[in-house]
Amino acid sequence: MKLWGGRFTKTTDELASSFNSSIKFDYKLYKYDILGSIAHAKMLGKCGIIPLHEAELIQDALKNILENIESGIIKLNGHAGDILAYEDIHSFIESILVSRIGDVGKKLHTARSRNDQVALDTRMFVKDAINEIKSLLASLGSCLVKLAENNLDTILPGYTHLQRAQPVTLAHHAMAYFQMFRRDIERLSDCYKRVDVMPLGSGALAGTTYPIDREMVAKELGFSSISENSLDAVSDRDYIMELLSCLSIIMMHLSRYCEELVLWSSHEFGFIEMDDSFSTGSSIMPQKKNPDIAELVRGKTGRVYGSLAAVLTMMKALPLAYNKDMQEDKEALFDAIDTVKACLQVFTGMLSTIKIHGERMYNAARGGFTNATDVADYLVKKGIAFRDAHEITGKIVLYCIKTGKTLEDLTIDEFKIFSPIIQEDIYDEINLEKCVSGRNIPGGPSRGSVIASIAKAREFLEQIK
Ligand code: ARG
Repeated sequence: MKLWGGRFTKTTDELASSFNSSIKFDYKLYKYDILGSIAHAKMLGKCGIIPLHEAELIQDALKNILENIESGIIKLNGHAGDILAYEDIHSFIESILVSRIGDVGKKLHTARSRNDQVALDTRMFVKDAINEIKSLLASLGSCLVKLAENNLDTILPGYTHLQRAQPVTLAHHAMAYFQMFRRDIERLSDCYKRVDVMPLGSGALAGTTYPIDREMVAKELGFSSISENSLDAVSDRDYIMELLSCLSIIMMHLSRYCEELVLWSSHEFGFIEMDDSFSTGSSIMPQKKNPDIAELVRGKTGRVYGSLAAVLTMMKALPLAYNKDMQEDKEALFDAIDTVKACLQVFTGMLSTIKIHGERMYNAARGGFTNATDVADYLVKKGIAFRDAHEITGKIVLYCIKTGKTLEDLTIDEFKIFSPIIQEDIYDEINLEKCVSGRNIPGGPSRGSVIASIAKAREFLEQIK
């Protein structure tokens, strides 16, 4: 069952063998391993390295194996059955091939090493994962655009230092997250370019003496280019760390949003209510409705950061070229991909079902002096220097705090205590709707600015489809 028994006189210690084996996790690469082998066999035949009819026999048998795995005839449950007796997915597939077509199957590995094979399989796996994650991000993007469109006039306080700062709209807030996830999509597209490089032909480390056609294999497998240095190609795991960095940033964005949603669904904020279908209860406190999903997404962020740290640390100080340490890249990579996919899916479901309490949001904006900057700006428009206007407004706010009033509650006489310049038109200026609509510069929270940003967002989502 081993691919390398010839040089050995003793069998491998059982503990060492199971410690060394990667099949319990790299079975996930089966499809890419088989597709890569089919392309390799086709190329070997075309280049006359093995007879054409044998190359065809190998390809047909491999296609059959793939079908058998997908239909469950060959079981690939990484935790059970005799598949665990194999060292890795590469030897497993090759062994089945040889058991089915005999000696011809033994020719498949001509001009190839598991080092370039695993590099190929993992790159193919990552390419598909990137596309899947991009499309999940796009679904989340559509959900955010809808949320924004439905809440163009829903005013809530914008915060700095988690202190009420200036009024914004829920649409503007949702579109802020849209920007983050748009950048995540762009980062993944950029990462994809560096993953999309075909390493096969690099052999174990120094290429091969067979007259292979690397470009043909790249074309067969849908790669844009071939790797330029065999030593690098078999030992490069940059693209994994790059993907894990992208995934870590996605999780950081999700986690920030989750944190806000957890806060917003608290009784103290009361800005939103999670749908029952995305909430959980307490085993002891009958009144509880907990935002577990948001908390769990926030919590899983650490797990993805952990994967990035693990691979960065594993690669550090490895001499060229391949070292077995690199086998440790897979569990971290697979886990991070599964985690991000699950989080994006559940987060989008949760977000699309939240109930918005617009009145609570509005009252919070009203009660938090979020229009104080607009009082100062009003004074500036009347000819007072901004620093002085800031000072006067600060005193007005202090007065409001002492008397338990909001700025718009003050009478004109009360305003005049602080500056005789203030007139009736102040009320129009500090009305919350006006504070938002007045911020109509590109990128601002006004209805028009947000509609423009939504239009661009829709265009972006359309073009990445
Ligand atoms: N399971 C191995 C890995 O993931 C495959 C490559 C094995 N190569 C070797 N020289 N032992 O890295």
